[in-house]
Order: sequence, then C-alpha cells, then structure tokens
Amino acid sequence: MPLYLDNFNLDGRTALVTGASRGIGAATARALDAAGARVALVARKSDELAKVALELRHEPVVLAADLQEPAAPADVARRALDALDGVDILVNNAAVAARLATVSTDMATIDRILAVNVRAPLLLVAALVPSMCERRRGSIINLSSGSALIGTPKRAAYAASKGAIDAATRSLAMELGPFGIRVNSVAPGVIDTAMWASNKKVPGVPQAIEALTPLRRWGQPEDVADVIVFLASDASRFVTGETISADGGMVHALDLYGGPV
Ligand SMILES: NC(=O)c1ccc[n+]([C@@H]2O[C@H](COP(=O)([O-])OP(=O)(O)OC[C@H]3O[C@@H](n4cnc5c(N)ncnc54)[C@H](OP(=O)(O)O)[C@@H]3O)[C@@H](O)[C@H]2O)c1
Repeated sequence: MPLYLDNFNLDGRTALVTGASRGIGAATARALDAAGARVALVARKSDELAKVALELRHEPVVLAADLQEPAAPADVARRALDALDGVDILVNNAAVAARLATVSTDMATIDRILAVNVRAPLLLVAALVPSMCERRRGSIINLSSGSALIGTPKRAAYAASKGAIDAATRSLAMELGPFGIRVNSVAPGVIDTAMWASNKKVPGVPQAIEALTPLRRWGQPEDVADVIVFLASDASRFVTGETISADGGMVHALDLYGGPV
C-alpha cells in the first residue's frame, strides 16, 4: 500500500458490523476486511452470514442474532468481545425500512422499526464502549438515511428512527470524544439493495431516481462501504459528530421550485 494510504489501513483492528448478510452491511464487511480488519458479522440468517464470511480473509466471526430482541445487543456484544478480544469499530447498519401509511396506528411495526433501528444501536454502543475506553480508541459508525434529512412519504417512522440516530451520533460524539472514541453517521441516498427491490420494479422509478441524483446513477453498496472504511480508519482521525451523505448529491438536488436539477 503506498505511504499516503497508510492511514486507511486497518491491520490489527477488529470490527462488528450489523446487518452484514447482504447489501451495504455485506459490502462493509468486505471492505473492512480488505483494509485489514477482523470482522464479526451479525444478522438473523446465519447461512447468509456464512456465505459472506467465506469471502473474507481475516478470520471472520459469524454471530446470528435478532436485534429486535431486547437482550440481543448485549449478548452479541459479549460474544464479539470474547471472539475478537475487544472491538475497535462498530458499524450499526441493520435496519427495518417498512413503509407505513402516513397516519398509522400500526404499533407493532412502529415498535419494530424503533427497536432495530434505534434501541439496538444504542445498546450495542453501551455494551462495547467500556472496552473501547480501555483501549482508548474506537470508531462508531451509524447508518442514517436521506430520510433523516429530507421528507420521504410513508416513511415517518423510519425517518424518525434515522433522525434519532443522527441526534444520538452527535450526543455520543460529545460524550465519548475525551476517551478517544469517534462517532459519526453515514446517510446513503438510493442504494441498489434488497431494500429497494420492489420499488425498483415500478415503471418509471429507476429513471426518476437517476434524474433526482446529480451523479445520474443509483448508488451501489460499495459506494457507502468505502465511506465507512474512511470513518473507521485513522484517515478520519479528527472527524467526529458528523453525518456524511453518500447519495450522489441527491440531498442537494431539489431547486427552489422543487424540481430535480
Ligand atoms: N438501500 C438504501 O437505499 C438505503 C438508503 C438509506 C439508508 N439505508 C440504510 O443502510 C442500512 C443498510 O441498508 P440495506 O439497503 O443494505 O438493507 P438490506 O439489504 O435490507 O439489509 C438489511 C440487513 O439488516 C439485517 N437485519 C434486518 N433486521 C434485523 C434484525 N431484526 N436483527 C438483525 N439483523 C437484521 C438483515 O439481515 P437478516 O434479514 O438476515 O436479519 C440484512 O443483513 C440500513 O440502516 C438502511 O436504513 C439504506
């Protein structure tokens, strides 16, 4: 690796990535591993996690868990700490993006979204921070969304969960900075994953997304994973409390008249 890229090197670091069985989480696990980190992969389906783990070179660890369960985050953290002998990097990526009617009283879905998207990340932080404090280093990366920054119809509960994650990111960054722990979030735009699979089939949607994106294409999971590697690494050593958009410029794309640029 050329000298000027040394700060991106993650040799000897350990990482826990939630939602690592597909999409952005799987791409993140691959990218962290390629940069040198040993990665623990978390999701519900262990067979899918095992397939991703087979592609990794640095003794990956598969930890199946349903993060909707209240006790799961602490249990996953304990298993990761045991297996990896400490965790340097936490990527809170797993999320539920169910659409709800604008005015909805579907409490089960609202609770599920908040449990997976907000409660689990906070409990994982709580369980892993003591070990990061001991090591006096850590990077926590939370997956936000363009939905936290601009209005997205039928996504009020999801948007609320991502707004909460951005707010928590800033609070945690203030609290944990003195211990050498950085906390940032990444807000993807439209990324071509299972989350968009059904919308992508709606006639006109793929073209509309391209028109709304200044870079004129859908994002790929790797477009987000590379930003996460930057935030995990020493290349971002003086960056904390930030939300970085990885969206091809979409969040800036509406002009004063509300049309695409
Ligand atoms: N794709 C986009 O356009 C987009 C845009 C903005 C933000 N984001 C954010 O980026 C992140 C990743 O999105 P993605 O598109 O890669 O999602 P995805 O393809 O739907 O993958 C979601 C991952 O989370 C896991 N997961 C879901 N519920 C879980 C639970 N209860 N317990 C443990 N794991 C669970 C899934 O695995 P199992 O099903 O095996 O559990 C899967 O690995 C999310 O935070 C999402 O909100 C995505």
